[in-house]
Amino acid sequence: MPERHAKLSFSGMGVFILQKAKRTKRDKGLGQQRGKGGYMIKLKNISKSFEGRGEKTYAVRGVSLEIEQGEIFGIIGFSGAGKSTLIRIFNQLEEHDSGEIHILGKSINHASHSEIATIRKNVGMIFQHFNLLWSRTVQKNIELPLEIAGVPKKEREKRSAELVKLVGLEGREKAYPSELSGGQKQRVGIARALANKPEILLCDEATSALDPKTTEDILLLLAEINQQFGITIVMISHQMEVVRRICHRVAVMSEGKIVESGSACEVFENPKHDVTKQMVVSDDYGVTASVLKEYEQEKGVRYANIAV
Ligand SMILES: Nc1ncnc2c1ncn2[C@@H]1O[C@H](COP(=O)(O)OP(=O)(O)O)[C@@H](O)[C@H]1O
Ligand SMILES: [Mg+2]
Repeated sequence: MPERHAKLSFSGMGVFILQKAKRTKRDKGLGQQRGKGGYMIKLKNISKSFEGRGEKTYAVRGVSLEIEQGEIFGIIGFSGAGKSTLIRIFNQLEEHDSGEIHILGKSINHASHSEIATIRKNVGMIFQHFNLLWSRTVQKNIELPLEIAGVPKKEREKRSAELVKLVGLEGREKAYPSELSGGQKQRVGIARALANKPEILLCDEATSALDPKTTEDILLLLAEINQQFGITIVMISHQMEVVRRICHRVAVMSEGKIVESGSACEVFENPKHDVTKQMVVSDDYGVTASVLKEYEQEKGVRYANIAV
């Protein structure tokens, strides 16, 4: 059975993701208020190590980067490169050892518990294996962050109904995760991540457990969420096509460092670092241009970064 699609109207159906037009058209006021350059996330020389058997291993080494409001920013790299550790620093699931970090215009080097709670509320996250609660229905999974935030029942129900609609799961509200397909589970994960109306959505290998067609559906949904709500998305993936299609800019990680970064087009068309070259060549995603074209025609959308 094909995945159901979010029933949202696509404004400007012919061109769905138009990087330049979208970036200039978007209201950047919020980001500009938050950081001088309109950034949502700014890291300066961030490092993070783990101790094990008396040894210190650096997962992240001196990373500096800025992610602008409203962009879809990709982080790619082979397994063990430090990608997950890096984005877990963005919402302080991991505490960095050194360096400066600003999220939503706020320094979180010495943030209090309540400041960290505010950051977590404004930074949603989705995962490769969905991390749903198996004993809760779709609706109750989506309501969980709202319950934690103390939102009254009526309001929770209203918000979860909106989110169910947004992610295309109408009719499945009472289903349990075990009754859902992988794509549907990720839709619940997305809805839950959006419950508190975050400004940033972190995606750690969010499509890596899904088949190519379902991956397409989820990417479409994420791109639509970015476009409709202006939510900044940070997307980790080892699947090149995923990043190539929806990310505006990309950073390549290797051994804890960012070894290359630039617009998605630049990085994929003219990879400079050996790791980037290897990743581009080792792409195993396997969707051909003709399949993509058919999909685009069917959905009336167009991906920005693919020439077909
Ligand atoms: N909690 C942890 N304890 C010890 N080592 C860790 C921990 N998390 C990650 N690492 C190590 O940090 C490095 C980077 O891991 P990770 O950030 O998960 O990379 P990626 O997401 O790119 O695969 C790896 O060597 C990994 O073993
Ligand atoms: Mg990882």
